Amino acid sequence: MTGLETAAARVLLGNWRGSYTVPASGLYPHQWSWDSAFIAIGLRHLSPRRAQLEMDTILSAQWADGRLPQIVFHSGRDDGYSPGATFWHSETIPGSPAVPTAGLIQAPNHALAVLMVHQADPAESEHRRFLERAYPRLVRWHDYLRTRRGGETGLARIVHPWESGMDNSPYWDAALASISETYDEDIPRPDLLHADAGHRPSNTEYGKYLYLAARYRDHDCDDADAGYPFQFEDPGFNALWARSELALSAIAELIGEDAERHLHECDRITAALESLWSPELGAYVARDVLTGERQPYRTVAGLVPLLLPELLHTSELIAELRGPHFRLGEVAMVPSHDLTAPTFDPDRYWRGPSWFNTAWLVAEALYERGHDDEARVLSRDMDEAALEHDFPEYLDPYSAEPRGTTRFSWTAALALDLGKRINAPSSPHRTPMSAVDSITTP
Ligand code: SER
Repeated sequence: MTGLETAAARVLLGNWRGSYTVPASGLYPHQWSWDSAFIAIGLRHLSPRRAQLEMDTILSAQWADGRLPQIVFHSGRDDGYSPGATFWHSETIPGSPAVPTAGLIQAPNHALAVLMVHQADPAESEHRRFLERAYPRLVRWHDYLRTRRGGETGLARIVHPWESGMDNSPYWDAALASISETYDEDIPRPDLLHADAGHRPSNTEYGKYLYLAARYRDHDCDDADAGYPFQFEDPGFNALWARSELALSAIAELIGEDAERHLHECDRITAALESLWSPELGAYVARDVLTGERQPYRTVAGLVPLLLPELLHTSELIAELRGPHFRLGEVAMVPSHDLTAPTFDPDRYWRGPSWFNTAWLVAEALYERGHDDEARVLSRDMDEAALEHDFPEYLDPYSAEPRGTTRFSWTAALALDLGKRINAPSSPHRTPMSAVDSITTP
């Protein structure tokens, strides 16, 4: 094992809780939905069986309506996290699972992870019927997005900044500012015991986050609150949905189900993403469903559509990545927000710092599109920063100094994955989606 592999394994073993992995032991002491999928992508190199269990556990927390919850509180306690099991009291909400969970959702990267976990050890996966178990749950999850969150454009809506995974992205600024209400109880900030306040969202933002979460909860999380004031179509969320449909087509093919319907869904969502293209910015951006306004910001979420084979504006996105807004190869990894924007902040969560999950998505997309050198430079950058700073949550793009917490699980998992593939001395295969390629290439 290399030094990186040993150190990454130590983080992942330390954060393992018997059937799932916490993102970080102090700051995030429960199971998070999209974290688990990113974590499984790295965990598969250490133990395919444990990676399967990670995905089985998150999929087991599915609600009756098909949603996969943003957070699962396996301990049943808050454990120093807010808002926790006590805030959500999901046991009182119809259709919730036996285990306590949050009512919101997170970006749908799960089918992508399930396919990659399967590919790590197909024999073990087949032996345990991993895909047969996961497939119907993933289908119901995507059905929830289409039927309960789908709108006129054909994209899925998020109803809270947390659902994007990018809590304080500038995309949400105008909508949050227009909400006059705020949470009318104390705003607990246990996160500030584990991370610098200057690296986290503000108290004003937390007031809005908790107001929205409480309102969603008090409407039984039923997606039917007519005056609900936060509804967005996010390019990162929807691109991961489309990419996961592509993964579902490969999974369906492997277990003798209908692959075509998922390819069709991928094409449909990819085409619908064009409603988020901003000709003024030359970028995919989030759209406020209530006002119809496309938000005038470049963020890393707008680069995630690069993962879609049939995307219309690929060359513009690659140029954007290389240009002054994201400066690929010149700053650390990929900034979460436009380096030239007045709203850019190199320290504060999703308003500028570079994150390992989004850099991994971009590296993957570059590699699959044949930009091997840039994919390798980015991967090497990530692996070096991960090891040097004890697997930080995110980095200042200019100084490459760590921000947030450390020993962060997806940092370890994705650095490990790159070390085994794109960054390996002889990269074994171009894409983890080779099964998909053989379906999509006529
Ligand atoms: N990102 C949120 C937090 O900071 C939850 O998803 O707690």
